[in-house]
Amino acid sequence: MKRFAVMTMKGGTGKTTTAVSVAHGLSLSGRRVLLVDCDPQRNSAISFGVASDRGLNTLLSTGDVEIMQVRENLCLIDSGGRKLVEVELALSHQENRENRMKDALKHLKGCDYVICDCPPSMNLINANVLSFCDEVIVPVSMDYLSQEGARQTMEVIDDMKWLTKDIKIKYRILATFFDSRTRVSSMVLEEIRKQFDGRIYDTVVRVNTSLREAPGSKKTIYEHAPLSRGAFDYYKLTEEIMSSVEMAERNHSG
Ligand SMILES: Nc1ncnc2c1ncn2[C@@H]1O[C@H](COP(=O)(O)OP(=O)(O)OP(=O)(O)O)[C@@H](O)[C@H]1O
Ligand SMILES: [Mg+2]
Repeated sequence: MKRFAVMTMKGGTGKTTTAVSVAHGLSLSGRRVLLVDCDPQRNSAISFGVASDRGLNTLLSTGDVEIMQVRENLCLIDSGGRKLVEVELALSHQENRENRMKDALKHLKGCDYVICDCPPSMNLINANVLSFCDEVIVPVSMDYLSQEGARQTMEVIDDMKWLTKDIKIKYRILATFFDSRTRVSSMVLEEIRKQFDGRIYDTVVRVNTSLREAPGSKKTIYEHAPLSRGAFDYYKLTEEIMSSVEMAERNHSG
């Protein structure tokens, strides 16, 4: 089971869109996927038109959880919305508070990939996600402030390594909202490619209106506009992720 977080400190950089599109892309390729909405905004759950009060909130507090099947091969855990905020506050006084998610999901079976859609902040929820996941996808939209958000996220990941000691988390930058008509897009892309050499996905996600529309009809991009640039870019990213994970597994076992 491979566990990915989609995380950055900056809001609105395409975290939810990436989590939903990669999760559904993997499931369309026959992989069994669990998408965990870790954001009280519950945007991933809303994108599939589902909601549950027994989501990440109860998973972190009592270990109980409702896992909802949203598509073939694709299940989802809702965040629990506002209730997750209350749980996070209560958690801050408790023992082992960064490892709740890891402990609660350690017996999870029948799943090839877990994808966590994270809130744009550093809190105990994201600390739990970081201690649970193997890899972080850091979406950076093509503007200066988002680049700064990526830098802050790296610092947080490094802080977490110090906190929990056993974290061996890897991260990779994903360029999002690329707009070939603007100079700033090309400039930021060039800079982050230099800055994060070897730690950036080859796939670049371009600006695409269909991606913005899809959640409104409770469809993923592959259902809403399968021939769009958004569907093309996210399917390419899905394949890039699958081939790097599955190649590493083959090398490991062979
Ligand atoms: N490549 C894209 N082109 C056009 N619109 C996009 C693209 N990616 C995402 N969007 C839209 O931009 C908005 C923000 O995207 P999204 O919700 O995925 O960001 P986020 O990082 O999850 O935000 P938050 O920090 O609030 O959780 C949404 O309306 C989404 O539909
Ligand atoms: Mg989001």
